[in-house]
Amino acid sequence: MARSFGAVRALRDASITLRRGEVMALMGDNGAGKSTLVKTLAGVVAPDSGELLIDGEPRRFAGPADALDAGIETVYQDLSLINSMSAAENVFLGREPLGRDPVSRLLRLVDRRAMAAETKKAIDRIGARLPSLSAHVSAMSGGQRQALAVARATMWGRNIVMLDEPTAALGVTESEHVLEIITALKQQDIAVLMISHNLEHVFKVADRITVMRQGRTVGELVTADATSGDIVALITGATPAAAPS
Ligand SMILES: Nc1ncnc2c1ncn2[C@@H]1O[C@H](COP(=O)(O)OP(=O)(O)O)[C@@H](O)[C@H]1O
Ligand SMILES: [Mg+2]
Repeated sequence: MARSFGAVRALRDASITLRRGEVMALMGDNGAGKSTLVKTLAGVVAPDSGELLIDGEPRRFAGPADALDAGIETVYQDLSLINSMSAAENVFLGREPLGRDPVSRLLRLVDRRAMAAETKKAIDRIGARLPSLSAHVSAMSGGQRQALAVARATMWGRNIVMLDEPTAALGVTESEHVLEIITALKQQDIAVLMISHNLEHVFKVADRITVMRQGRTVGELVTADATSGDIVALITGATPAAAPS
């Protein structure tokens, strides 16, 4: 993939392979292009060149809705939550279930009870606590917002779940829960991509690590065979980029 924003070449030569049942960590310095790469996979940013294959089939996303349809969910760094809505409204935004009884169907009434119940399940699953499911996002702490965004992605992601620094705003306990969720997704045969600066978290949950530097993917490591020294050397450029394989 390549993508420029005006004179800024955010992606020069970036390539990443996600596998079902695996967690791929994406690491690199600030400005390396990690978020932009994720956004191309999420249909938010159109690449200038390059291709996207899903199960070997070339795909082109005209926008984020296409990626969502393909079962690709993303937790962005800014979380993309709507402050004036509740947890359940955010989780179901654009995908509200209709009530099952004939009147609800006819009037297209949203099944708020089901929304609240499903949201509660998703939140409980990741072990987070929210002030109340009906409280607006604006009343939540940074950690609660992050937990909500992760819960939403884990609810809808069928094929790929991408998380841009999912533990950045979280305390130790909340981070542990998010890492457990990531492991659980992998066991559901989902491909997970996690951007992280936290080597400890990466070593805990990632099967592989892709490192980016200055818009390029400069290496893919198998976590079990890598040391933090190897990773840091790739991030900083102490190790030259591996020849493309
Ligand atoms: N929408 C945009 N407009 C202009 N420049 C951008 C935009 N998005 C990213 N960039 C630039 O592209 C480069 C890579 O950014 P980003 O993908 O956010 O890096 P990372 O997530 O690794 O910190 C940076 O120089 C950033 O300023
Ligand atoms: Mg980023």
